Amino acid sequence: MPSVADLPGPRGGLRGLMAFDRDPIGSLARWHAEFGDMFALKVLGRWLVSVRDAAGVAEVLLDRQRVFQKDEFTAELSRLLGQGLLTSEGDHWRGRRKLVAPTLRRGHIRHYADIFVAHARRWVEQAAARGGEYDLHHEMMELTLGIVAEALFAVDEVQGVDRIGHVIEEAMAAHIQVERSVQRFVPQFVPYSAKWRIDRAARTVTEEVDRLIAIRRSRPAGDDLLWRLLEARDEDGTGLDTTGLRDEAVTLFLAGHETTALALTFAMHLLGRHPAAEARLRAELAPYGDRPLTAEDFPELRWTTAVVEETMRVFPPAWLIGRSPTRDVEVGGCRLPAGTTVMVPIITMHHDPVRFAAPEAFRPERWLDGRPGRWDYLPFGGGARVCVGNHFALMEAVLVLASLYQRARFELLRPGRPALLPSITLRPAEPVPVRVAPA
Ligand code: HEM
Repeated sequence: MPSVADLPGPRGGLRGLMAFDRDPIGSLARWHAEFGDMFALKVLGRWLVSVRDAAGVAEVLLDRQRVFQKDEFTAELSRLLGQGLLTSEGDHWRGRRKLVAPTLRRGHIRHYADIFVAHARRWVEQAAARGGEYDLHHEMMELTLGIVAEALFAVDEVQGVDRIGHVIEEAMAAHIQVERSVQRFVPQFVPYSAKWRIDRAARTVTEEVDRLIAIRRSRPAGDDLLWRLLEARDEDGTGLDTTGLRDEAVTLFLAGHETTALALTFAMHLLGRHPAAEARLRAELAPYGDRPLTAEDFPELRWTTAVVEETMRVFPPAWLIGRSPTRDVEVGGCRLPAGTTVMVPIITMHHDPVRFAAPEAFRPERWLDGRPGRWDYLPFGGGARVCVGNHFALMEAVLVLASLYQRARFELLRPGRPALLPSITLRPAEPVPVRVAPA
């Protein structure tokens, strides 16, 4: 059987890594176009492999998923997220998934629909009344922060939650700095180093989240996520202890807020650049007038849903999934050694002309008649570790987007294609200014 060294790929190890660091999306697209569905790059004695074809991706994410763990970069996030769902592995992860997944089931999400709509209406009412210019990315981050805070903690004291949101953001910025620079070699006890800052942020988040959990315990039962987590029991009747509860709360807080904000920011940007798509959205919303949307309206909003799905194809908020095998494993008929970094380049797959006709074009209509193959479109990942919040996220993005366009108009002040900043998530590299006016 061929080994990883037999795979084609860019030569020049460290130079290749530097090219990747400078322009990861462009490099992935170029190398897959040149070398085919699987390529390998050796950097400082370690293999980096990218797998693009449906069969290979299914092997990594589903068929051989027990051999794969999260890659080093994601695992490092446990400094902040502890052993929550996103960063844990093996039996611990399986147990947690069984406890957390039911709290986000479709049936439960219906309650959150009212929170999504109320927050969106409040924001847009104020913005439209005030008028003026806004940075969409910043505003959508604040909006989804408020939503996840209420859905998760059922708190009215936004300030404490704001603080957690901003501390997490600082920690993520430091995390990216560690991975991308010489900072990765600096020990964590060195004051003001990036690792030191992550640990300090983690301590603040722990204190704040513990405080919110204590407040929540003292109040009556409710429909919020935290209450459901407090009540969750496995088959033996065991629930989450304080550390487990905190890790899951911080994980849901982090995983559930920025990704959705990005989907909304990019959707509004794309609508601003495609007036026909926006006109069709307004036509879909016209029959609802100004009445607040509900969970029952969600299935009817087919064009709005198509806009969100197409946005996440063009600009997937989670653009790259990383894994690493714990022992030697076969993928695509090739033997990969334990410790290889395996990438599933979601953004490259979404822009593959074999999977999607005219992949660079924004065409929500492609979602109206049929869906792509299971391993062709993966905004929420796939296999055992598929996003546990996928239904929550889709309903949130659709109901928020619809509620905003029901009540306002958005004029893009920088209408060109946005420059991108691919880090853990795919962000716009610069502010996305818009002018808001009543609809
Ligand atoms: C548009 C919004 C979202 C996108 C694009 C997204 C994307 C993803 C992706 C790609 C993964 C898989 C990562 C991997 O396989 O390594 C993931 C996992 C996860 N997501 Fe999301 N997500 C979104 C919203 C949410 C929301 C709203 C929540 C919670 C309320 C959430 C919670 C999680 C958690 C806990 C995991 C880890 C699941 C596990 O490993 O078992 N996500 N997400």
